Amino acid sequence: MSNKLIIKNGRVIDPSQNIDSVCDLVIEDCKISDIIPASANANSSAAVIDASGMMVMPGLIDMHAHLREPGFEHKETIASGTLAAIKGGFTSVCAMPNTNPVNDSATVTTFIIKRAMKRGSCSVYPIGAITKGQNGEELAEMGMMLEAGCVAFSDDGRPVMNALVMKRAFEYSKAFGFPLISHCEDMNLTANGVMNEGSIATLLGLAGIPRSSEETIVSRDIMLAEEAGARLHIAHVSTKGSVEIIRRAKDRGVKVTAETCPHYFTTTEEMVIGYNTNAKVNPPLRCADDIAAIKQGLRDGTIDVIATDHAPHHADEKLLEFDRAPSGISGLETALGLSLRLVDEGVLSYADLCTKMSLAPARILGLDKGTLKKGACADVVIIDPNREYSVSSDKFLSKGKNTPFEGMTLKGMPAAVVVKGKYINILEL
Ligand code: DOR
Repeated sequence: MSNKLIIKNGRVIDPSQNIDSVCDLVIEDCKISDIIPASANANSSAAVIDASGMMVMPGLIDMHAHLREPGFEHKETIASGTLAAIKGGFTSVCAMPNTNPVNDSATVTTFIIKRAMKRGSCSVYPIGAITKGQNGEELAEMGMMLEAGCVAFSDDGRPVMNALVMKRAFEYSKAFGFPLISHCEDMNLTANGVMNEGSIATLLGLAGIPRSSEETIVSRDIMLAEEAGARLHIAHVSTKGSVEIIRRAKDRGVKVTAETCPHYFTTTEEMVIGYNTNAKVNPPLRCADDIAAIKQGLRDGTIDVIATDHAPHHADEKLLEFDRAPSGISGLETALGLSLRLVDEGVLSYADLCTKMSLAPARILGLDKGTLKKGACADVVIIDPNREYSVSSDKFLSKGKNTPFEGMTLKGMPAAVVVKGKYINILEL
């Protein structure tokens, strides 16, 4: 049996080589072996996939997901989370460390990697905690976790509130060359806030989270990274002010990159009206002005990455009162459809989208992925750009059914992926 696969007649988009044309993609021995003109004859011994009318891109990479294992398997497991990833067109996902136990040691990192090898459907890259137990006080053994396979460090889910601890973490990260991913939130400004601060919060009688809660820590961490000469990646940008602060930092050469998530450019705080806990997320959904600034940030390169912040929760937890329900949106299976709207709106080209959802995360994390160059790992997504579907959480492969986008019509659906050379038809999952 030949181990050669040819994806024929698709629109191949690979920003790493400036390719955007109808071609055949040849995969051999789990690696990309060639991109050839579509008219050339296929080698008869190869398996052939007809991708006419489809887009063929490097597999998507989600640099921000919560896979919940170990410890919160009622919300998600590595098995269910990676299946959801595949369904969403992702061939690699990064697992945030707020598990139980927290991924703050080489032992937990190794557990995640082994579990992913055994039960995962795609590649999993652990992100280690910056501080032990994510308590914000004592640095975790980052060097050992790096050796065990962590690709970056973050206390995501909460900030490192002590600036001196964060300064030391930057000094450490600079020595090793990895980026710190910052969950930017001043807990004193957030206090007991549960949604965006403003008139809707007042009307609903809910405590607000001001934009300054995010922006003060974005500013602080930019200063600390600049001082240390270290690399900083800002997680889940939600405000106009953050975009502006990051833009200015980039202009003066700070080594800062940033991500936003589909919910921050798709919907506003109005989604919370009716105490809709599926619209409760941290940072909170903001306003039309913020959405416009985030789109501009994506367009001009201030925001490098679109990540999901996939945060599955159990339905029973989301049934709690708004104040007590956990924050998070199950995002892996809607991210591509929501992001493709940016192409329709003319905010991004397909190549830009591919950069933000594959090439840029690979570069930031130093992964040998996000490209269809000869010899690269054969991770590919085949997207049907015209297929319309209505979001239905019943059909999610994630255990987390918590989406505020239920019933929304999306256009553009991943049809298949190739993971390390293995073809998976998503429509059969
Ligand atoms: O909404 C969120 N949920 N934001 C975070 O930062 C953490 C995440 C979670 O782990 O549920």
